[in-house]
Order: sequence, then structure tokens, then C-alpha cells
Amino acid sequence: MTREAQLLPDTGEPGFGVYVHWPFCAAKCPYCDFNSHVRHQPVDQERFTAAFLKEMASMRAIGGPKTVTSIFLGGGTPSLMKPETVGAVLDGIAKHWHVPDGIEITMEANPSSVEAERFRGYRAAGVNRVSMGVQALNDRDLKFLGRLHNVADALKAIKLARDIFPRMSFDLIYARPNQTVEEWERELKEAISYAVDHLSLYQLTIEEGTPFYGLHKAGKLIVPDGDQSALLYETTQEITEREGMPAYEVSNHARPGAESRHNLTYWRYGDYAGIGPGAHGRLTLGPKKLATATERKPETWLELVERDGHGIADQEMLGDDEQADELLLMGLRLKEGIDLVRWQQLSGREPDQAREEFLLEHGFIERLGNSRLRCTPAGMLILDSVVADLAR
Ligand SMILES: C[S@@+](CC[C@H](N)C(=O)[O-])C[C@H]1O[C@@H](n2cnc3c(N)ncnc32)[C@H](O)[C@@H]1O
Ligand code: SF4
Repeated sequence: MTREAQLLPDTGEPGFGVYVHWPFCAAKCPYCDFNSHVRHQPVDQERFTAAFLKEMASMRAIGGPKTVTSIFLGGGTPSLMKPETVGAVLDGIAKHWHVPDGIEITMEANPSSVEAERFRGYRAAGVNRVSMGVQALNDRDLKFLGRLHNVADALKAIKLARDIFPRMSFDLIYARPNQTVEEWERELKEAISYAVDHLSLYQLTIEEGTPFYGLHKAGKLIVPDGDQSALLYETTQEITEREGMPAYEVSNHARPGAESRHNLTYWRYGDYAGIGPGAHGRLTLGPKKLATATERKPETWLELVERDGHGIADQEMLGDDEQADELLLMGLRLKEGIDLVRWQQLSGREPDQAREEFLLEHGFIERLGNSRLRCTPAGMLILDSVVADLAR
């Protein structure tokens, strides 16, 4: 792959992304319910690479030839992959689909597993954007979140990533226990001063099955209530907007043009091939979309791929109504909203007039010209109920 081409412009089209999941982490964070596992024996990266390539061949056979518009190596902690593994995965993708020069190739990285050598290796392999899990900019909260890095590690990693990759983003988690608006304001402003052009800012969610869930249930971990969360969310919107990095999606902020192409493909309801343990995919086949989900357990996934050529554990053909609902669910997260014509073509109907009027009158949604519909800032705060109201 040629690496140095300028990033291709965003066409506004949904696109086709390839997602590859690396399911291992050095330690499990107590809030996280991603498909991530800790292994005390070294992971056989060659065996995983061979399986990734095999599963790509199956996905290519199912979805047919396509031009890739973005690649995302997510996890887990993909920065635990050797640069050779990353190189082989990227070369494999280019063998199965058409990969133009200048597409976005993102890799998630943890500040603690960062090494200059590796970052340079990833860059040489073709990665041109890094997304780093910084989570907090004070050591007390990093410890509370179970992170293996401290603020100094994070700042070092951010600087390194800025020097090596043309594009870089990092994640923070806010709405932590006892976090005041003033504290978050200070931290966010500091984060913006380190950011290049993209930030992901997530409210702490208590996910079932995690250690935080147990603590929360037992009353030992108290998160900000609805009003305080709303205040923190609004503060986030105000500050990022003022600093030129407004939200383009509920939790994602960018300078204009620096939006994550790959994530836009999800939210614009494009197609994506999901490779690796626990990866999800959507592949358009004629008028239907095939939803795929692979086996989550890494070792079982390996065995399935070696035996059958893929690790798909669940697949379902989505009809028009289901696609219309998914388009709504994903698209209303975006500031650009949804293309109503596309939604109407899929659902075969107009939005329910009474419900739409109610939401319009209460200022939760708005029309952009005749053909687009989006949530207002007030609607974003109650996004789930807006989607439920407009869906079937
Ligand atoms: C797969 S991880 C990113 C890469 C890497 N594994 C790391 O943690 O640094 C995706 C991001 O989701 C966010 N996240 C995960 N669980 C969350 C939760 N329960 N609440 C809020 N954000 C969460 C974190 O900001 C995390 O960086
Ligand atoms: S937040 Fe990231 S590092 Fe922590 S367990 Fe989840 S995927 Fe792994």
C-alpha cells in the first residue's frame, strides 16, 4: 500500500469500512464491557494473523468486491499487536478489496503499551490515524478507572502520536463519581490544548457484568445523577464548540473535516466487514443487509475460522423495516442527521405525523430543508426516546 497520499475528502457517502478486532488487553478496566480478554501466556500473533486473513476471504466472498473507504483496528488493545501483525492485516485487506491510497487507517492505542518503536512501525505499516484511550488527566481518577498509565505516560504518548501520525484523537471518560462541572471544565480545556483535531468524550456508563456494576448496585460507587450528567454534557458541548471542536456525533468532537471517516460509516449506515472475535458487520446484498456477528471468545473464534473459514456465530438478513430502524438509530446520533429520502425508501412510509409534530413542537428534532431530519441539542439529551418515537 502507498502510505503517503493525502487523505481523501469526505464525500458524504456512507462508504465501506473494514473493522478488525484485537481482543486482548494488558488488564481489564473495571468499567469496560468490550470484548477484551487478558491472557497470561503470549498470544500467538501469527496464528491470529492467518485467521484474520482467512476470515477476510470469507467476508469478501459474502459481500463481493468493494472499494474500502476506511480501516479501523479496534479492541481490546490493538497497540499490543506487533507492527508485523498490523502490516500483514493491512496487506490482507488490500488483497481482498480495493484499497485506494489516502483512505483513513485508524488504530486504537493505550498510552501504557505505547513504544516509540511500535508507533513508528505502525506508521510504516500504513496506519495514518491513532485513537488513544487517555480517559482522564488526573492520576487519582486514572487509578479509580483501573488504568495502567498515569498522566505523564499519557502526555508522552500524545506527543509521540502527534509527531508520528498525520491524524490523532484521544478518548476521555467524564461524569465520574463526584466530578464537579468546574473540575471537568478545567480538564477538558487542558485536553483540548493537547488535542490535534479530534476528541471522543464519553460519559461513564455503568455496564452490566462489570466490577463497576457490582459496586454501583451495592451503593459503593455513585455516579452523577441525571441533572448533574446533563450539566456536564452541556458544559462539554459549550466548551468544545467555543474551542472550534464541536460535536459531530453525541460523543465525538472534531475540527471541521477531521471527523472519523470510519465512525461516520457506521452512523451513516454504510457497509462494514467485521473481522476478528466479536466483530459485527453489515453487508448489503441486493435489497437486504446481512448483519454478522462473530464468536466472541478468541480461542473458540480461532478454531472456528481454522475449521470453517470464518467465525460467524450469528447472522441475520435485515429487511427494509429493520434497516430503516437501524438507520434512524445510528443517524440521529449525528449532527448532520438522517437522509429522510433514504429512510422513506427503506421504511416505505413518512415519519408518523403526530409524533413528528410533537417532537418538532417541543424542540427535540428539526428539519434541515426538505430532505434531512436531525435531533436538536435538547433532543440529543433524550436521544433514545426520540428514536423510539420515530421508529416503527
Ligand atoms: C476499546 S476502548 C479504546 C482503546 C483502548 N482499549 C483503551 O482503553 O485505551 C474504547 C473507549 O471506550 C470508552 N469506554 C469503554 N467503556 C466505557 C464505559 N463503561 N463508559 C464510558 N466510556 C467507556 C473508553 O473511553 C475507551 O477508550
Ligand atoms: S477500556 Fe480499553 S484497555 Fe480497558 S479493558 Fe476496555 S478495551 Fe481494554
